[in-house]
Amino acid sequence: MMEHNASTDQVRRIAVLTVSDSVSRGRNQDTSGDVIQERLETAGFQVAERHCVPDERAEIAAQLRAWASDPAIAGIVTTGGTGIALRDVTPEATRDVIEKELPGMAEAMRAKSLQKTPFAMVSRQVVGVANGTLVVNLPGSPKAVAECLEVILPVFNHLFNLLAGHTRHDTPPGGP
Ligand code: MTE
Repeated sequence: MMEHNASTDQVRRIAVLTVSDSVSRGRNQDTSGDVIQERLETAGFQVAERHCVPDERAEIAAQLRAWASDPAIAGIVTTGGTGIALRDVTPEATRDVIEKELPGMAEAMRAKSLQKTPFAMVSRQVVGVANGTLVVNLPGSPKAVAECLEVILPVFNHLFNLLAGHTRHDTPPGGP
């Protein structure tokens, strides 16, 4: 739920990065990116940008850095490349960029996802903060992104307020 005061009424802008060799070559549709966009917009966020890059660590990190240096972007959500295939390097690229890791958020998504599929334990997804920007890795399937976003979307506004310096650490989501 949106908090109501002057400093938090602004619509937060989020960038979505699809990490996929096949989507970047035009061989597959970016269905997971579409699901992320729909879920974010339903939750009241604006999808400011959407890009797709192949599973290349340097390319992923470069795009994350570019968005993290843009003060108009509050958060970045990636999809894909979190598993154990040779070319799955999204977590490594994310760790190249973030200064602080939020392991609890990644664990919360894995824990909830494990109730749906044992394969959830295979995702190495990472969450962290880069230059005041929240960076969230999601797995690659449309089903997975929906299940994971359900877990973390309820805390997004509070995190963005904290990162923007509008909210004291002792104010929980939903107010004091
Ligand atoms: N998480 C949720 N919530 N739902 C899922 O269906 N699939 C898993 C896992 N996490 C899944 C999930 C599977 S099958 C894999 S291989 C890993 O995410 C990694 O996916 P990725 O390599 O596409 O990022």
